[in-house]
Amino acid sequence: MYLELEHIKKSFGDKTVVDDLSFSLEQGKLLCILGSSGCGKTTTLNMIGGFLRPDSGRIILDGQDITEMTPEYRPVATVFQSYGLFPHMNVIQNVTYGLKFRHIDRKDAIERGERYLDLVGLHEYSKYRIDELSGGQQQRVALARALAVEPKLCLLDEPFSNLDAALRVKMRVELKKLQEELGITMVFVTHDQEEAIILSDFMTIMDQGRLVQMDTPENIYRNPSNSYVSEFLGLKDIVWGEDGKIMKVIANEKL
Ligand SMILES: Nc1ncnc2c1ncn2[C@@H]1O[C@H](COP(=O)(O)OP(=O)(O)O)[C@@H](O)[C@H]1O
Ligand SMILES: [Mg+2]
Repeated sequence: MYLELEHIKKSFGDKTVVDDLSFSLEQGKLLCILGSSGCGKTTTLNMIGGFLRPDSGRIILDGQDITEMTPEYRPVATVFQSYGLFPHMNVIQNVTYGLKFRHIDRKDAIERGERYLDLVGLHEYSKYRIDELSGGQQQRVALARALAVEPKLCLLDEPFSNLDAALRVKMRVELKKLQEELGITMVFVTHDQEEAIILSDFMTIMDQGRLVQMDTPENIYRNPSNSYVSEFLGLKDIVWGEDGKIMKVIANEKL
């Protein structure tokens, strides 16, 4: 498999936060890690990104063991919840930032940066300051910056959670389209069932640091592996498409 996590474990003090986590993902697919707040999603993503070292276990990407590799050398890019843009740089400087360390000359870097800005619909904003952009535009810049390094794997940690509901739905559709068109392998962390179902090729459900179930959203809906999964997903109604895929999720407001 393209991405493999093997028996990953992480504790902070005497608290085990990620417990014997294993999963794998094919190239070009989008995996959502779904779970309630505090279940270990960000910790897991930070270990894949190299910002945290697992206590034990291995992470393999495209045949290479990256467990001990520092983040700068990993062929992995991360989009954070809080965007993590550099406020003193303009849009194109932000987008091309990661290319400086990859021996790409300035002209090619800017060309490539402009191309990715175009892909996220921000071509004319190249020279804008970050504080001149809306939250949604800033999140698009963060996405363009991650994609511009052409990573083997793109990680996203609740990237849309600071946006209003309507924009969140729009960004979700755009991201899925971009991911499919570019064939990028993505791991997307969220606590939002609807977001996970709509985005996922595969979905991993985590509870208290452990993987409870991993499968396509459709299979998880049809055959939840235990009561935790069915209760966690039971908040939503589903509209099935004729192709047997989930077409739409209707939020159930009763709770
Ligand atoms: N650096 C840290 N030191 C101590 N505890 C931590 C640290 N980072 C996360 N935790 C704890 O680990 C658990 C999982 O955190 P996190 O991975 O951020 O969860 P999630 O992203 O699913 O909300 C939480 O209980 C959190 O308080
Ligand atoms: Mg988190």
